[in-house]
Amino acid sequence: MSAETTPGGLMPGFGNDFETEALPGALPQGQNSPQRCPYGLYAEQLSGSPFTAPRATNERSWLYRIRPSVKHSGRYKAVDLPLWKSGPAPFDSELPIGQTRWDPVPYPDGAVDFIAGMRTMTTAGDVHGQAGMASHIYVATADMQDAYFFNADGELLLVPQDGRLRVFTELGVMDVAPLEICVIPRGMVFRVELPDGRARGYVCESYGAIFTLPDRGPIGANCLANPRDFKTPAAAFEDKETPSTVTVKWCGRFYVTEIGHSPLDVVAWHGNYVPYKYDLRTFSPVGAILFDHPDPSIFTVLTAPSGEPGTANVDFVIFPPRWMVAENTFRPPWYHRNIMSEFMGLITGQYDAKEQGFIPGGMSLHNMMLPHGPDADGFEKASRADLGPQKLDATMAFMFETRLPQHLTDFAGSLKTRQEDYVDCWAGLKKRFNGTPEGDWD
Ligand SMILES: [Fe+2]
Repeated sequence: MSAETTPGGLMPGFGNDFETEALPGALPQGQNSPQRCPYGLYAEQLSGSPFTAPRATNERSWLYRIRPSVKHSGRYKAVDLPLWKSGPAPFDSELPIGQTRWDPVPYPDGAVDFIAGMRTMTTAGDVHGQAGMASHIYVATADMQDAYFFNADGELLLVPQDGRLRVFTELGVMDVAPLEICVIPRGMVFRVELPDGRARGYVCESYGAIFTLPDRGPIGANCLANPRDFKTPAAAFEDKETPSTVTVKWCGRFYVTEIGHSPLDVVAWHGNYVPYKYDLRTFSPVGAILFDHPDPSIFTVLTAPSGEPGTANVDFVIFPPRWMVAENTFRPPWYHRNIMSEFMGLITGQYDAKEQGFIPGGMSLHNMMLPHGPDADGFEKASRADLGPQKLDATMAFMFETRLPQHLTDFAGSLKTRQEDYVDCWAGLKKRFNGTPEGDWD
């Protein structure tokens, strides 16, 4: 018997207790661990939280698979993936502190798969203490063929910018295109194919608590990211007897084991520890309808809490298309210094504080307490703009914002596409103060 992993259905909802089976009757009913499972499958639990975590944060799934995971694991040997770094890696780059911006990371020559194509830009915190995160770019030109991976160090949030990804996970298959994201849980085995031949995008690797939806407070029961727009794949499995590798990231190091079959052999599963995708265009933004604008946290899609209320290990925030209607208001993001550290990327279009220099596929880092804000042109334009309703359209920027300082990797510091003149974007900001209440606007 065999079955192919083609994308099956997608199941809506966030944090649901799902159940799904790729063969009829494969999922045991009424119990988790029968004496013999249907189809001769093995029952196995995958725990994403301690057994004793409170019910609201307890995450686990029951997998019914052709072989138990011990058969997808043999003797390991160390392998090098030198461009995928983990915290703590303080001052990996010799660059002095400063606001930093890059043009896109170029594609590599030759065949490089999703895992080998990972390039770490920043690290924050400590992978050993399960606190912090890393910001990566992937530049991939080859499918993962009979090559599988899991990350014991954290959850992976993928933000495609160029080219689609087909993500085959233990629990099912997701096609993810630019303007969509997906999340792969810690420990879940997967591989990635590139339907468009190559792909580039951003990754947040969160070492801490699982991503969840932010509370909405007085906004109420709707808007921002709505649970039904998150989609989890239905069960799909590979029954494939071919020499394969499983690479593991474990406390910042990489190890590989060789097996004789596909580890994506889960025929049925139930539970709430799951991969999912989300279309950023379904985010319903909430903003100012008279004057000023809220803090950018109003655009938080997902948050990985730190344990301290309101202080995220990492927030995933987007800047989607929206109407700007505020009266007598400086509409772009204001000038800012922040205890949190802000890594930004641009998926498509323009970002309203920086119309030049920040291009799709590019990224910027505004680190702990380093000032940032609109460039001189942006300030000039916004200070004189006609304040009629204006649609900011065909744009999608995002931010990985963490409570911890983000350290540049040597790769990021020496990347040829780093804009050495970035800080000059503020050089043209004039002194407007001349002692009169009107100021000097000539
Ligand atoms: Fe900021």
